[in-house]
Amino acid sequence: MYKIIIENLSIQYSDGTESLRNISLNIRDKAVTVLFGPAGGGKSTLLRCLNRLNDLTEVSNSSGRVLIDGENILDPKTDVIALRRKVGMVFARPVVLPLSIRGNLTYGLELAGETRRSVLDEAVERSLKLAAIWDEVHDRLDDPAIALSGGQQQRICLARVLALQPEIILLDEPTSGLDPISTGKVEAALIELKKEYTVILVPHSVQQAGRTADHAAFFLQGELVEYDEGKKLFTAPKEKRTEDYITGRFG
Ligand SMILES: Nc1ncnc2c1ncn2[C@@H]1O[C@H](COP(=O)(O)OP(=O)(O)O)[C@@H](O)[C@H]1O
Ligand SMILES: [Mg+2]
Repeated sequence: MYKIIIENLSIQYSDGTESLRNISLNIRDKAVTVLFGPAGGGKSTLLRCLNRLNDLTEVSNSSGRVLIDGENILDPKTDVIALRRKVGMVFARPVVLPLSIRGNLTYGLELAGETRRSVLDEAVERSLKLAAIWDEVHDRLDDPAIALSGGQQQRICLARVLALQPEIILLDEPTSGLDPISTGKVEAALIELKKEYTVILVPHSVQQAGRTADHAAFFLQGELVEYDEGKKLFTAPKEKRTEDYITGRFG
């Protein structure tokens, strides 16, 4: 089933950069869809479009439609706060709040008015487990999150997004600053997440794309070159440009 339908999306920044050109892409529920390709391809621009974070940048012109559950979220009438709750995002550099581990997880819910201790405790445990970090922190939830390692902080950031019960999770190179063991833990978490959520990942390498992708889209300079099941795309790409990139001929 398609959770997100992107139709003829073009985005231009105010300096004239055309960062996405007429992209059409359908994204499935309960799967990991990977957006990969060299820097400057428009991957982050596309992710930011899905939760309207581009509203905060210098986008001068956009056209096309992005339907999430059938509603065009680019419509000016969209409730952006509700959208961002439904479409959570994890960035390349973990930014934990200057609070305890627990505080990082309950912050968003408390802001939304939740005060019941049992609900908050349940959210903390559920999201830490989903983010594959519960075992490492359950006995020190009141310690400052900032004292954790970078890999642990990144999983706290993922858990913080999960605590708000989004439906779609966007991850923009979430393991680019992490060691291989932490990277493995984040990738393991993705396998759990896709049982329940729509997951869209910009991987930090072609290898990671190959390991994680149920579906993969190759972006080059604002163009969607090829989109297919991960297995097919990484073993028998249809386009020469895709093949050249995944075999390391450029990028
Ligand atoms: N805020 C911005 N203002 C102007 N140009 C931008 C901005 N963000 C990205 N771009 C340009 O848009 C293009 C796509 O960038 P981006 O979406 O970050 O690609 P990727 O994530 O694939 O590296 C690049 O040419 C980049 O320089
Ligand atoms: Mg990017």
